[in-house]
Order: sequence, then C-alpha cells, then structure tokens
Amino acid sequence: MKILLLVVAFANALTLCSSFKFNKPRILLPIFNDIRVNFTLQVLEKGCFNFRVSSGQDLIQLNRIENNENEECVNKVIVTAITKEKIRSTGVVLAEHIQTAEILRCDVILDVIDTFNVHTTTRELFLEEAPETFELKAQDANGNDFTTLEGIEFSWKLGSQTKDTKSSSEKNNNFQVLRFVTFSESKFHQVPKEVEKFETTGRKGHIILLEGINSGSGKVIVKLPFEEYREIPQVEVDITVLANLLIDPVDVNCLVGDTVNFQVLQLKQGKLEKIILGPQYYLEIENKSCASIVEGKALCLELGSSLVTLHDQNLVESSSRGPKARITVSLADRIAINLLPFYNWMTIVNEKHEIVFDL
Ligand SMILES: *[C@@H]1O[C@H](CO)[C@@H](O)[C@H](O)[C@H]1NC(C)=O
Ligand SMILES: *[C@@H]1O[C@H](CO)[C@@H](O)[C@H](O)[C@H]1NC(C)=O
Repeated sequence: MKILLLVVAFANALTLCSSFKFNKPRILLPIFNDIRVNFTLQVLEKGCFNFRVSSGQDLIQLNRIENNENEECVNKVIVTAITKEKIRSTGVVLAEHIQTAEILRCDVILDVIDTFNVHTTTRELFLEEAPETFELKAQDANGNDFTTLEGIEFSWKLGSQTKDTKSSSEKNNNFQVLRFVTFSESKFHQVPKEVEKFETTGRKGHIILLEGINSGSGKVIVKLPFEEYREIPQVEVDITVLANLLIDPVDVNCLVGDTVNFQVLQLKQGKLEKIILGPQYYLEIENKSCASIVEGKALCLELGSSLVTLHDQNLVESSSRGPKARITVSLADRIAINLLPFYNWMTIVNEKHEIVFDL
C-alpha cells in the first residue's frame, strides 16, 4: 500500500511593504475665469498625512474636507485650481506620512480645454427602457483627458436630425423623440455626487440622462457656456430611438400561392403587444419577385428566399436597423402524416388524436 503524503506549506506572507499611493499620481484640471475646479486627492491607504503645495502656490490651493471626524488624521485633501491664466502650468502637491515620513508626490497640471466630446455606450435607445447616461469628457490640446469636470455647467439641448427631403424634416419639426430625465426622477439611477448641485437647481453638468419617448431620430447638442470658451464648437450627437419590435413568424416556409400572415409585436416592460401596421410601421420584402406583401399579408409567388424588413417612417435610415424575417418559397419535398401528440401510430381504443400534415 502506497501512501501519498501531500504537504502543503502555507507561506504566511508578511506585508512589510509600507508604500502608499494616491488615487491619481497626476491630475489635469481645466482653467476658467470664474470657476475653481476641485479634485479630491486621496491616499488609498489609511493613515495620517500632512499635505502641502510644494510648487505652484499661485496655481493651486489645498482645502480641508469638511465634516472629517478626525481632524488631525487625514488621508485626503481637496485640490482647487485657482489660476485664471490661460496657459499650461504645473503645481506639485506632497503628502508626508506622519509616522514614517514617507513622501508622496502628485503633479497637478492646469490647462485650457481644447475640445470636449460625449461618451456613450450606445447611440440607440429603446422605448420603454431605462434612461441612458451621457457623459462629457474634455481634452487639452494634446488630447489628454481632464481628470474631472465636476461643478462645470454645460448647456444641453435637444434637436432633430434633418432628413434629406424637406417635407419630412418640416413634418418632424415639433416632434420630440428624446427627453431629459433627472437622476432623482429615474428609478434606475442614483444621483452621481458630481452633479448633485445641478440636479437641485435644474441646471446640467457633464453627466445627464436621456430617455426615448418616441421612435425616431433625434439629436443632442452640447455647448460650453462660458465666455472664455466661446471658440470651442458645440458637440452634436445623433441618437436613434427604436421601439423594441419583433416580427412573428421570423422564419417561414411556404408553397407558391400560399399566404402568410405576419404580425409585429412590441416588447413593452416585459410584455408583448401587437402593433398595427399603418403609415408609421410597414413591412417591405427585399425581393419582390419572391413574394408580395400587403399590410402584413404575404403572398408567395416564386421559388426563392427573401428578407422581410420592418420599417419605421420616423427613422432617417431605418432599413439597416429594423427587425427582419425570412420567407422561403419552396416545393414540398415530402408529405408526412403524423398522429399527435406522440408522432406514433400506436394508439388505444377510444383515445382521441389530432392528425397533422407536415410538408
Ligand atoms: C470648489 O470648492 C470651493 C470651496 O469648497 C467652492 O467654493 C467651489 O464652488 C467649488 N468649485 C466647483 C466647480 O464646484
Ligand atoms: C429574387 O427572387 C427570384 C425568384 O425567387 C430569383 O430568381 C432572383 O435571383 C432573386 N433576386 C435576388 C436579387 O435575390
């Protein structure tokens, strides 16, 4: 008999390493005439630190965080940009650990905003779904992202995408597909700390929520509303609002001369509702020689296969986005007669069955 002895030695690694780290070793803050941008600089580990500006006293200021229970022992501080001079400059903040005298350094770079843009995870919103967050990021002339835009007001507006044809853009002039939602209104979100002040005063910061209220194409336009930044062009983002639609059946086989009834269903808060095809929603068949389609009723004409696409009149370019179904016109290959429910011809006297014909 063999005995296998497995000895596992647990090395109890002692973490003697005493290095501390800032949440950001380098920060980039924007310069304004009348706004003092703040950033909370924090040592990630617990401990007591002395913070000081070692260079750039005319550029940045350090402020204590209010309501800090332990006034003597802090590991974070607010860095405030105080300069109004529109040139790139750098200050240095040091934090000294009181017990070990270890020193941490953070470079604070101040610069003007050169461009800004909207970060999104999607530019397609679905009706009846949670509002989507849109966040702005600003960059300096070298394309570096500013660390924070907290406390900076932006002007957000909704617009409509102009269609190629004049008539339809006129028609859509007063037609809103999007709506701003506040974070406190949304049951899916919490108010981000950075925009708390704006929420209560009805203004908008660098993070907002948008909700689709009608299917169609809309646009959001953002401006930086400050005299010193009037040269920066506004940013426009095209957004499409889609209804969550399905075509039923999604894949169908038919014989020449058959008719197939398509239904369009909309998913609304987890429930399917039938949509009436009309001027707004209509089905189109890609290959018209294969089958014809009128108000959801398809007539199979010729052997072949074709896609059926659902179009939405309100969308600028709906063909690529709408849901699709496939219709295949084929010859019957074989005919089979089956006895339900077991597809088995053995049965018992007096038992009732349904008989199906499969093609
Ligand atoms: C930064 O903090 C100071 C002092 O707490 C405050 O007066 C100022 O409004 C803050 N700046 C922004 C942009 O919120
Ligand atoms: C359209 O369908 C017809 C008949 O089914 C077929 O002969 C033709 O090749 C199809 N055309 C295209 C572009 O798929």
